[in-house]
Amino acid sequence: MTSAFIDYERRGSVALLTFARPDQLNAMSGAMVEEILAAIATAADDPAIRALVLRGAGGNFMAGADIKAYATQSAEAFRDFQESAGRVYGALEALPKPVIAAVEGYALGGGFEIALSADLIVTHPEAKLGLPEVKLGLVPGGGGTQRLARKLGPNRAAELLMTGRFASAQEMADWGVVNRVADDTLGEALALAEQMARHPAGALADLKKLNLAAWQTGLEAGLEAERDAVCALFLTGDGMQRIRDFVTRSEHRKAEGAKA
Ligand code: COA
Repeated sequence: MTSAFIDYERRGSVALLTFARPDQLNAMSGAMVEEILAAIATAADDPAIRALVLRGAGGNFMAGADIKAYATQSAEAFRDFQESAGRVYGALEALPKPVIAAVEGYALGGGFEIALSADLIVTHPEAKLGLPEVKLGLVPGGGGTQRLARKLGPNRAAELLMTGRFASAQEMADWGVVNRVADDTLGEALALAEQMARHPAGALADLKKLNLAAWQTGLEAGLEAERDAVCALFLTGDGMQRIRDFVTRSEHRKAEGAKA
């Protein structure tokens, strides 16, 4: 199955979902959200598929939600996007099969939130992970404030959220968020997925559900509060100005490139 912004392929008992919008560092648009959801549903419905591996094309996992689309969105469209993107993170966790994120390059904002919704994360040594929404005057809207604190502990999460800095793969591994750091990131992720895929599907599904239950108590209320916060911040002048600045920088670079 190949769509405009993703690729989905079966590799034996493992499905490989690739975010494929490399010229925009795989930034997640509304159309891409729908394609990702369809691919997850395909993996869910296929009994031959026992595990799912996620990766990005072109050397980056995903640099977050499509900020350029934000620049022209109404408050209502922004909230609709937050809700539909929220279904991606939920669908990854609801999939009764192990999900492994194979992260090369940038996993930022929604990209990091997708990785945080996976059961395991494998990264390339040069990968950079972070939630830079604060630089846009926003907060993460895809569970970043909730899942990161639960996985990292609140102090380390506060540091990343409030500075907006990108963490290295090794730092995230030392902090327990990344399972493995490997030069052959995809190979390592696929090997882990295949090792899991050999076990009975029922036991894997139960293990996934129980593992999520161990750290997700109270998650729903936190996700709702987060979504309300990002939608309220989207309406403030500061947030919108920073989003427009991002677009202006991109347009400026293109104009300079055209002149040269
Ligand atoms: N939304 C839309 N477009 C994005 C994007 C995003 N989240 N992230 C990158 N892009 C686009 C850039 O605008 C650029 O497109 P252009 O050639 O049409 O101008 C292209 O992807 C390449 O990115 P560029 O910024 O030139 O690469 P870089 O190596 O200089 O910087 C980043 C990489 C990741 C540091 C930078 O792109 C960035 O800060 N992105 C936004 C990250 C973010 O805030 N994510 C959270 C979103 S809520």
